[in-house]
Amino acid sequence: MLATAMASIETWALRPGAPEIALCAKWRLEAFGDVLGDSLEDEIKRLEDFVADGAQQVALVASCDGIPAGTCLLAPQELTPCHPVSPWLAGLFVAPDYRRQGIGRALVRATEEQARQRGNKHIYLYSDDAVAYYEKLSWRIAEQTIWHGFPMALIARDLRA
Ligand SMILES: CC(C)(COP(=O)(O)OP(=O)(O)OC[C@H]1O[C@@H](n2cnc3c(N)ncnc32)[C@H](O)[C@@H]1OP(=O)(O)O)[C@@H](O)C(=O)NCCC(=O)NCCS
Repeated sequence: MLATAMASIETWALRPGAPEIALCAKWRLEAFGDVLGDSLEDEIKRLEDFVADGAQQVALVASCDGIPAGTCLLAPQELTPCHPVSPWLAGLFVAPDYRRQGIGRALVRATEEQARQRGNKHIYLYSDDAVAYYEKLSWRIAEQTIWHGFPMALIARDLRA
């Protein structure tokens, strides 16, 4: 029987000028274009601006055997939030060919750690159809809410647990 080698998954923070910024911007439009718009140029600029100040925020990339495979943000503000909480996990995305290998989990854990390192006790996100995914990662529903007309769950992770 052939042994299957485990893929090597690493996460790191995007720095200004990093070549992966364009790819992450493209992924973000693919997944979240309904709220971000459809201009790749604008999204690259937003991401460049975002990574320029890492004090309270960070854009993470995950690679699988050295190839960029996904991204996730730690952000002090969610886009148009309805709750006065902070920080937020936002924009979790894994490229379709790389899913179901634990890359999403690695990005969530790395984002939690970035929030912890900045002294936060909790981290939050909004989700409609991925609540079960985050619950498996020990996130818990804090409130069922209506976000800009859509049913949504505010989910929280206790970073001290
Ligand atoms: C959700 C997402 C990030 C998961 O990435 P991933 O690298 O495949 O995640 P993991 O490998 O850590 O976990 C995979 C498991 O989560 C499950 N899963 C994926 N999406 C799910 C969802 N919306 N609800 C419940 N479970 C889900 C998979 O079925 C898989 O289950 P299995 O281990 O029993 O096979 C990825 O599917 C994605 O980018 N989706 C599009 C964007 C998105 O929905 N982002 C999250 C909400 S903002």
